[in-house]
Amino acid sequence: MNTKVWKVDKYVDKLENNPQVVDAANFLRDNEVVALPTETVYGLGGNAESDVAVGKIFAAKGRPSDNPLIIHIAEKKQLNGFVAEVPVKAEVLMEAFWPGPLTIIFKKKEGVLAETATAGLATVAVRMPDHPVALALLKRCGLPIAAPSANSSGKPSPTNAEHVMDDLNGKIAGVIDGGATGIGVESTVIDCTEAIPVILRPGGVTKEQLEAVVGEVRVDAALTDEAAQPKAPGMKYRHYAPNAPLYMVSGTTKFLQRLVEEKRMEGLRVGVLTTSENAGVYEADVVLACGKRAALTTVAAALYDTLRRFNLEKVDVIYSEVFPNEGVGNAIMNRLQKAAGNKLITE
Ligand code: TXA
Ligand code: MG
Repeated sequence: MNTKVWKVDKYVDKLENNPQVVDAANFLRDNEVVALPTETVYGLGGNAESDVAVGKIFAAKGRPSDNPLIIHIAEKKQLNGFVAEVPVKAEVLMEAFWPGPLTIIFKKKEGVLAETATAGLATVAVRMPDHPVALALLKRCGLPIAAPSANSSGKPSPTNAEHVMDDLNGKIAGVIDGGATGIGVESTVIDCTEAIPVILRPGGVTKEQLEAVVGEVRVDAALTDEAAQPKAPGMKYRHYAPNAPLYMVSGTTKFLQRLVEEKRMEGLRVGVLTTSENAGVYEADVVLACGKRAALTTVAAALYDTLRRFNLEKVDVIYSEVFPNEGVGNAIMNRLQKAAGNKLITE
């Protein structure tokens, strides 16, 4: 399959009538799958009401069929179509964070969406992305769009159109290139089907921000206890992994440098994931600065691109610094832990 690339400037007016957006929307209406920029990561969109379109999403990504997709909408009124009830707390959260990087789990109205989109669950995950191109495309096609991250299953999520093409060229109908995404880690997933909302995946909206508007929020036990069964099926898979084994290192820069030296003595090509503050401190084959530690949002924005760059550099092993587990650091550490398969070396 020839994958089309539509370049769209997100700052132009009337994006809904942009010929590229219109063309991509027509592909979606024809049940083809199209990658699109959002404010978090690129998504791989398809008509959520069509088994055919949803089947193409799972096939292109090589995604396990028991992992449900997030449904993307441009207007709140679309919820009535496929959501059974909207609890008051969900209403408050939507008011505060939509459009934005928050995915809300609702009870599903049966018989509207493709069963495969929700992996047969009685619930459905929904979000309204805060990206002009995504919103224009969603409005133009007028459909609820199922969209997981537009990477091959298991790989780091894509934060620009090149990442998408590296993984999915030839496997999807097209990609809208709207430039690099802003936030860089996926949306926060929150389950609002219980009296006290539960975070199933940390992401672009922090626990602190959620609690400020909705009061007490719980965190799914699986996020802190490896043995617990996660409520978001996707969280049980190893994810975001670079090709080389990745180790998180908790300790001084000297300690990390010693680990590097041990591996280099074995003749291995060693990579270090650090930030601009410490990039000059390490001596290794490949030292990559992933944003600035002093501004964790920049670390989130650069994380997946940095993990992908280690693949291009063909390192044999990667050592990564760790980050404070608070604010957006929750999402950064969650993704690093998954990328590392939880391998942590402590000084
Ligand atoms: O930022 C994002 O959320 C991006 C962009 C493209 O919107 N999308 C994304 O989708 O990250 P994906 O498929 O990579 O992750 C969806 C997560 C998975 O962990 C999945 O298990 C969970 O949401 N999920 C989806 N439906 C669910 C449901 N009904 N109950 C619990 N978890 C659900
Ligand atoms: Mg994903």
